[in-house]
Amino acid sequence: MKNFRYQLSCAVIILACLLFSTTSQAAKGGKKISSDLFGLFFEDINYSADGGLYAEMVQNRSFEYNPTEQKTWNPFSYWEYVAPGFSYGRINVETAAPIHPNNPHYVLLDIEHIGHEAKYTGISGVGIKNSGFEGMVVKADDKYNFSMFARQLGNEPVSFTICLQTLKGKILAQTTVSVAASDWKKYTATLTPSANCDTANLVVLATNTGKVGLDMISLFPEKTFKNRENGMRADLAQMLADMKPRFIRFPGGCLAHGDGLGNMYRWKNTIGPLETRKEQRNIWGYNQTAGLGYYEYFRFCEDIGAKPLPVLPAAVSCQNSGGTWQVGGIGQKALPMNEMQEYIQEVLDLIEWANGPATSVWGAKRAAAGHPAPFNLQYVGIGNEDKITPEFEERFKMIFAAVKAKHPEITVVGTVGPAPDGEDFTKGWKLADDLKIPIVDEHYYTSPEWFISHQHRYDAYKRNATEVYLGEYASWGNKLRNAIAEAAYMTALERNGDVVRMASYAPLLAKKDFTQWKTDMIFFDNVKINPTPNYYVQKMFSANQGDYYFDKVIAKDEKDVNLAASCVRDSKTGDVILKMVNFGSAPKSMKINLGQFGTIIPQAEQTVLSGDANVENTFDNPQNVLPVASTVKIGKSFQYSAPAMSLTVVRIKTKK
Ligand code: AHR
Repeated sequence: MKNFRYQLSCAVIILACLLFSTTSQAAKGGKKISSDLFGLFFEDINYSADGGLYAEMVQNRSFEYNPTEQKTWNPFSYWEYVAPGFSYGRINVETAAPIHPNNPHYVLLDIEHIGHEAKYTGISGVGIKNSGFEGMVVKADDKYNFSMFARQLGNEPVSFTICLQTLKGKILAQTTVSVAASDWKKYTATLTPSANCDTANLVVLATNTGKVGLDMISLFPEKTFKNRENGMRADLAQMLADMKPRFIRFPGGCLAHGDGLGNMYRWKNTIGPLETRKEQRNIWGYNQTAGLGYYEYFRFCEDIGAKPLPVLPAAVSCQNSGGTWQVGGIGQKALPMNEMQEYIQEVLDLIEWANGPATSVWGAKRAAAGHPAPFNLQYVGIGNEDKITPEFEERFKMIFAAVKAKHPEITVVGTVGPAPDGEDFTKGWKLADDLKIPIVDEHYYTSPEWFISHQHRYDAYKRNATEVYLGEYASWGNKLRNAIAEAAYMTALERNGDVVRMASYAPLLAKKDFTQWKTDMIFFDNVKINPTPNYYVQKMFSANQGDYYFDKVIAKDEKDVNLAASCVRDSKTGDVILKMVNFGSAPKSMKINLGQFGTIIPQAEQTVLSGDANVENTFDNPQNVLPVASTVKIGKSFQYSAPAMSLTVVRIKTKK
C-alpha cells in the first residue's frame, strides 16, 4: 500500500511537471513537435556494411561467397593459394564437418612439403592470402586483431605464420599461431605493422607438413569506433555520431523484405557468435556476412544515443523480387499461412530480445552477447514500401494485432508504398486509418523542384491520427542545389513536426566504385570519406533539433517559394534554433524577432552552408562545399541576409 502511494505521488509529480512544461512552452507560443524528428536510414546497400561501416578487413572470411551473389563468385573468391619457398600441398573447400550448419564451407589445407630451396629468402609454407575489400588499410604501430577457427586433421599440430604483406610481398607484420586441437577452436593473435599501407594483404601460411581445416579468418583494427569488438570503422561511425541522430532505421530498405522469401532478413540469423550466423545473398548483388547483425546495430544506436528502429518484413518479399522491376513488378511472394504463427513469434521474440529481462529466453541471449540491460526498443517497423496486396494486408494485420496485444508499449511503423502518391500510397493510408496504425513510412526520391514546390504537403495532414515517418527521401543529386532544396523541405518537416514523427535521408553510405544507388549521403573508399552537401544539411538539422516549433519568429517574403525558414526550441537546453534557407540565386533578407524568448545571450553560433548551386564534393576536392561556423552578435530583433543558395543555422542560448 505504501509502495502504491509512493508510485501514485511520483506519477502526480511527473504529470504536474509535464503539464507545467507543456503549458509554459505553449504560453510562449510554441507547438510541441516530435523529439525524434531527424535520424538515419542505414541499409546494407553500396557496400555500406561489409566493406564499409563494419570494420572487418578480410573479405569472404567464412568461405561462403557463391555464384548466386555474383556469377563469378565461389567459396574461394578473394582468396589466393600461396606456397612460397618452393613448397607444395593441396587445398579444397569442404563442407563435411563445419563449425556450424549455418556456416557450411571451410578450407582444408593438406601441406605436403615446406620448401627452403637455395636462393629463396622469404618465408616458406603453404597457405592462403586474402586481399580484403580492394586491399587492407593498415597504419604503422596500430594493432590489428587476427582470429581464425582451425582444427588439426592430421597426426601433428600445424604451425602457422600469420602476416600482413604489401602487394610486392614486403612483410609489414608477422606473428605465429599453432593449431593443435582436433576440434574447431578459435585462435587469436595481434599484428602490429611497421609501416603504413593502403593495399596490404593478409597471409595465413602453414609452416610444417600436416592437414588442417580453416574457417572464419578475420582481421579487425583494434581501434574500432569506441574500441568495440566486432565493431565499426571508426572514421565512418564518427561521421554518423557527429550528426547526433535521434534514431537509426536498419537493416533496410529493400534489404529488409528481400529478393524472394528465402532472402527476407531474418533477425535471428544475425545474432549470436559470428561463426553461427547465417550469411546470405544481399539483394543489392553481393554478400552479407551478418557480422553487422542486430546486436551490433542496437549497440551502435546506444553508442551514439540514437533510438533503434528495426524494420522487419511484413511476411512478404519485395515486389521487385527476381528482377521483376524490369517488367513493372509484381514479384512479391507471401509467407504461407501455415508459417505465419512462427513468423509472428519471431517478431515478438525480437521485442523480448531487445527489452526483456536477462532472465527471459530471448533477453538471456542479449545478455549472453554482453548486454544484460534492455535496449529500450520503442519503435518497430513492419514492412518496407511493400505493394499493398490482399496478401500483404492479411499478413500485416496479423503481425500488427499480435504486437499490439502483447506489447502495447511498442509503436508500430507501417508502410505506404514506394512513392509519395498513387495506388499503394492510397491503399496503405486507408489501411493505416482503418487499423489506426500509429505511424506509417513514406518514401520518395524526386527532383529538387518537387521538394521546393511541395513544402506544404504535410500542412494538410490530419492531426491526432496516424503520424508520418518519412523513412526515405532525397532529391536526385548531390549538388549543393539538391541539398538546399532538401533543407527547405526540412524546415517544413519541422513546422509539421506534430504529424511528422521521424524523417531520414536515404541512402546513407556508398562505397566508391561499388554503388547500386547513385545519390547517397556519404561516399567513402577504404581511406577517404567524401561527405556530400546533403550530409552537411542533414547534420545541420539533426544536430540542431528542438521539441517546440515557433512560427512568426522569422519574417520573409511569403510569395517567394525559394525562401524557407523555421524556428525551434530545445527544451532541455533552452536554446532557440533558427534555420533559414534561400534556394534562389540572389541574397534575400529575413527579419528575426526573438521577443517571446525572454533573455537571450547576444552571442550566437551561426553555421552557413552556401556556394555555387551546381558544386559537388569529390574525392579529390571533398571540401568544395563546407559549412562555415562563426560566432555572431545578435539582438532581440535583427535582419539576416540569407546568401544565395544557402542554409543558415543560428543557435541562440537563452537565460532559463
Ligand atoms: O534507398 C534505396 C532503396 O530505395 C531502398 O532499399 C528501398 O526501400 C527504396 O526503393
